[in-house]
Amino acid sequence: MKIIGTGSALPKFEATNDMLSQIMDTDDEWISSRTGIKRRHLLSEQDLTEIGVEACMKALDNAGIAAEELDYIICSNTVNEFITPGLGCILQGQIGAKCPCIDINAACSGFLYGMQIANSFIASGVAKKVMVVAAEEPSRIPSWQDRSTCVLFGDGAGAVIFSDESNDVLSMRTTTTSAYEVLYSKRAMEQHPFQKEETKDVPLVMNGREVFKMAVSNSQEDIKAVMKDANISSDQVKYFVLHQANIRIVDAIQHFLGEPKEKFPTTIDYTGNTSSACIPILLDRLNREGKLSKGDVLVMSAFGAGFETAACVIKWNK
Ligand code: COA
Repeated sequence: MKIIGTGSALPKFEATNDMLSQIMDTDDEWISSRTGIKRRHLLSEQDLTEIGVEACMKALDNAGIAAEELDYIICSNTVNEFITPGLGCILQGQIGAKCPCIDINAACSGFLYGMQIANSFIASGVAKKVMVVAAEEPSRIPSWQDRSTCVLFGDGAGAVIFSDESNDVLSMRTTTTSAYEVLYSKRAMEQHPFQKEETKDVPLVMNGREVFKMAVSNSQEDIKAVMKDANISSDQVKYFVLHQANIRIVDAIQHFLGEPKEKFPTTIDYTGNTSSACIPILLDRLNREGKLSKGDVLVMSAFGAGFETAACVIKWNK
């Protein structure tokens, strides 16, 4: 498949580290030096659907196609107000698309898992034009009493439209290692009369150090594997488009790969971790800033709860 359009949207409201330091025991120095995050956009008066729609509309405009031309929408989403239906169904109606939609939850790797499904749909003839939209509100998962997790996240949406015009995915890999205890959250469910135990809300539980280690080692392994499968050497790669969870994770991956810093663009300073929206937001920024040229090779890689990871090599052919 080929990328034909990108779009992204961030909530209007921004919370700086200094603003957080007024409501909890933290400071800009701790957050910036440990994570690279200076500020994050949070949904306050807007809702997730609004920024999801904005990202989709921008991607359609960038692709130069109408919503009715989409054959499938794959929506990556970890949490939103609706348990059912999937967020993709709500976005579909608001953008004026008529195609089938499916939601997936592969946490922060969800966009790349969505790409893998899109690639299969296109290869098997199920669809010719597929939009993968990641719309995420991870600021609603941790407890805002827990300074070690809530400062890390921001909300946002990114969308990419793929078509069957060429075959630009050179390789792709997804991995899952069941290790939910390092990063999870639970929500209370309705009680029925025959249940013995009540379920409870559990805001995000994270073993930060363990996640950090798993992120660096798995991402490196994934990146090396997809580059080998695609028969691509590092000097052929224009950018490594990585999940934006912590600048120190990006720096560590860069260090272990022995690649120059300029090949690792970031948004983390102003977005924080927007879960699976990180990669399409970053890709859209590169596209709109004119940093991508036809034929550029991009390596994408993400990790997140599960523990799920994914990586791919794709040619920018737009
Ligand atoms: N402000 C000030 N102090 C804070 C703080 C905050 N926001 N959050 C935690 N601390 C304190 C802790 O209370 C602890 O203090 P103590 O040593 O007195 O107990 C100390 O800072 C913890 O520091 P440490 O554990 O050494 O931090 P770290 O270097 O491991 O960085 C993370 C913490 C969370 C930034 C880092 O582990 C990380 O980014 N992990 C990966 C997380 C991630 O990517 N999650 C999403 C995956 S998709």
